[in-house]
Amino acid sequence: MRTGDQNIFTFYLPTKIVHGVKSVQETGKEFKSLGSRKAIIVTDKGVESAGLVEGVLASLKTNEIPFIVFDDVEEDPTEKTVAKGAEIATKEKCDGIVVVGGGSSICAGRGIGVVVTNGGNIRDYEGIGKASKLPLPLIAVPTTAGSGAEVSQFIILKDEIHHTKMAIGSPMYFPRVAILDPLLLKSLSFWQFVVSGIDALSHAIEGYLTSMTTPITDALALSSVNLIYHHLRAASTSEDLDAKEACMIGSTMANMACGNARLGLAHAMTMPIEGGFKIPHGLAIGTILPYVMEFNLPASHERFAALAKSMGEFDANRSTADLALCAIADIKKLFIELGFPRKYSEADIDRKTIPQMANSVMQWAHGNYDPAKKYSMNTILPSANIRKATMKELIELYERSFEGWEM
Ligand SMILES: [Fe+2]
Repeated sequence: MRTGDQNIFTFYLPTKIVHGVKSVQETGKEFKSLGSRKAIIVTDKGVESAGLVEGVLASLKTNEIPFIVFDDVEEDPTEKTVAKGAEIATKEKCDGIVVVGGGSSICAGRGIGVVVTNGGNIRDYEGIGKASKLPLPLIAVPTTAGSGAEVSQFIILKDEIHHTKMAIGSPMYFPRVAILDPLLLKSLSFWQFVVSGIDALSHAIEGYLTSMTTPITDALALSSVNLIYHHLRAASTSEDLDAKEACMIGSTMANMACGNARLGLAHAMTMPIEGGFKIPHGLAIGTILPYVMEFNLPASHERFAALAKSMGEFDANRSTADLALCAIADIKKLFIELGFPRKYSEADIDRKTIPQMANSVMQWAHGNYDPAKKYSMNTILPSANIRKATMKELIELYERSFEGWEM
């Protein structure tokens, strides 16, 4: 992350990461070390009925920590869910939060923490740095390997009024602790694993292809690509716990990279798609990723060659340009193996909205969106991309993503 003077960089991550098989048993001890006494457990009914909350509750009981469970988080939570959770936490005098779930629950839980200590509605804090008080301390226990919300300062909620996503960010919103236990990935279906894994891979690849990268973010991004690329097949198709753990840590590392180096066009271009149509985040991101990579290729053959090496490509006789091409080919091969779509379906997304979607990406890119009034993550995604896109190029990219790619 560049601050002020363009030669000064900051890497910031205040989240303690505890990981390993059965690491959920550390939850109670970690909760106590935050100085909290009563917990609100934020989760969803699916996670709860799959038995994924049990280990956390057992650890809290062992440590004699009273708790209450709020399991009403839905997919793509709204401000209403946050308000409901905050009301319960306040009424029950909870002074700490433990989230067990995917990105939706982790975002809802962090929103609850902000509202409990700052009051009002979570919408009041839309933008960057709007809250003045520290939120309730929070432990994130992810049950997916993809969102990276366990190491993110951004709370992303569904904006039902404007049919888009609401981004609420501050360095205060990082979870205090993230507990990565691969045993908690056991209820994910093959397809859920694939979709969230490809989202994580996109975080790493995009976080390596921005104008804000540093040697620290590069190391994290390339290691993340290495871990996810080599383990996603086994993690999604078998009970291989080592592979699942590799994907889980890879996903967290991807967000440590892109949380500081930012994201690029794949995430920027899918914002209007997700806002306007019902298509899961990872699916929307992954589908456009190969097209965005092809667009970005001319900006840095060296960076694409490094990505290829992290996916296992090496040949001393091959040129940098050849290796660079392998990075895109390897991603396409992985997609074919996993049965990931090669293009958007016109049944899911109205192709006629392409100019409108391209226009919203351009508006964000050129700052017509007033950051003083309403700063959103959308504002900086397109402008951080390693290669700047024109309106015409964005329209072409969207059009191509409905045509399909070849190897
Ligand atoms: Fe994502």
